[in-house]
Amino acid sequence: MKKLRKEEPCWCKSGKAYGECHAAFDRKIEIFKKKFHQVPPRNIIKNEEMLEGMRASSKINVAVLDYVGEHIKAGMTTEEIDQMVYEQTTAMGGIPAPLNYEGFPKSVCTSINNEVCHGIPSSEITLVDGDIINVDCSTILNGYYSDSSRMYCIGQVSEERQKLVRVAKECVELGLAQVKPWGHLGDVAQAINDHAKENGYSVVREVGGHGIGLEFHENPFVSYVIKKGTGMVMAPGMTFTIEPMINAGRPDIYVDSVNDWTIYTDDDTDSAQWEIMVRVTDDGYEVMCW
Ligand code: MF3
Ligand code: CO
Repeated sequence: MKKLRKEEPCWCKSGKAYGECHAAFDRKIEIFKKKFHQVPPRNIIKNEEMLEGMRASSKINVAVLDYVGEHIKAGMTTEEIDQMVYEQTTAMGGIPAPLNYEGFPKSVCTSINNEVCHGIPSSEITLVDGDIINVDCSTILNGYYSDSSRMYCIGQVSEERQKLVRVAKECVELGLAQVKPWGHLGDVAQAINDHAKENGYSVVREVGGHGIGLEFHENPFVSYVIKKGTGMVMAPGMTFTIEPMINAGRPDIYVDSVNDWTIYTDDDTDSAQWEIMVRVTDDGYEVMCW
């Protein structure tokens, strides 16, 4: 990495002089590197202009999820949810990020009961009383990505399912509380994993969160099964999702052999997931999208 003089423009493209921008940041990163910690690459550190773009994108994403929450009900097909997401997102000037993403055919992921994630909306799938569903929305606005998901309970949901939905949300909140500069992604992971285990649940290992911003899925991969004090160091300006998939039974999963997208629990038990998008700030975190 080329050493910048303090009067040169900062590598983050803020337009500010390096000395007043990321010079101190780089010194801190060097210390972690020397101790063999995994540190964030420069290209995932966002400047203020990028963050503004991501906030505007997030605003649409949140509005779409609010809209879905007001209209979702038993008897509705997941195709209708897809239509709502497409129409609401585009009406606000955004593009649904999942649409045509690596061949994904729809605008949103809808994952019901034993579906862990990446459920594909369909006119053949109708929501019935007692279902729990994750609606995972992602938006592109002016090239900036946002991504968050929520669980919705359809009609009268069993105590067991309600608890799974609640604990999955608590997992995200406990993970979020661990987000601070110079901590590790493993701190977030362990808080989540411990809470899931305490409630008799398990956390999916193969799928996780991700950096986000200029692309849908950026570095790092955010695992929820690593230990406190391990994984990438969190540094100010990093933006990533916290989206653990919590299974009522075993953590094992399999992918749909027909559509190659939808992931299910291997033991057929229920799974719940909430997703938020956060930024590491100078003293903690900013929730960008929920
Ligand atoms: N939040 C999900 C993820 O990051 C969104 C997936 S959209 C899909 O995996 F198009 F990739 F399915
Ligand atoms: Co995501």
